Amino acid sequence: MTERTLMLIKPDGVKRGKMGEIIRRIENKGYQISAMKMVVPTEELLNLHYAEHVGKPYYPSLVNYMMSGPVVVMIGEGTNIILGWRTLMGETNPTKAAPGTIRGDLGREWDGEAMMNLVHGSDSLSSAKREINLWFT
Ligand code: TYD
Ligand code: MG
Repeated sequence: MTERTLMLIKPDGVKRGKMGEIIRRIENKGYQISAMKMVVPTEELLNLHYAEHVGKPYYPSLVNYMMSGPVVVMIGEGTNIILGWRTLMGETNPTKAAPGTIRGDLGREWDGEAMMNLVHGSDSLSSAKREINLWFT
């Protein structure tokens, strides 16, 4: 089924000059990028986007990390893209993410509480719909 998903290049990806590399991987895979913009997210937006993480010990540093610079916000389209994009991203912790994935190839852990892992992808049809509506009002 053709799906839409929310894709983010997080501030570490932008600062480290990985936008082109990440977009290249999306295009090489064959997914369409149907919308794209750069924004510095507000705390209000992040509280909604990361609603299930509010109150976790790492949450304050996650918000600081996500507000530390511009984020590239994209809508991706393709058959089964929600799963496919998360497979391209690799697992959450970049130390454990498999080589060949974006997080595995381009990321590592750094001192500090927030895991900087370059990219975001919606994890289900319902979160994709919710997140697209949040970031593209
Ligand atoms: P999560 O939704 O679990 O991961 P994913 O981005 O792979 O869907 O967590 C959201 C973000 O919160 C994650 O990308 C980085 C941050 N995070 C931490 O900093 N520490 C943690 O222990 C967890 C679980 C997440
Ligand atoms: Mg998640």
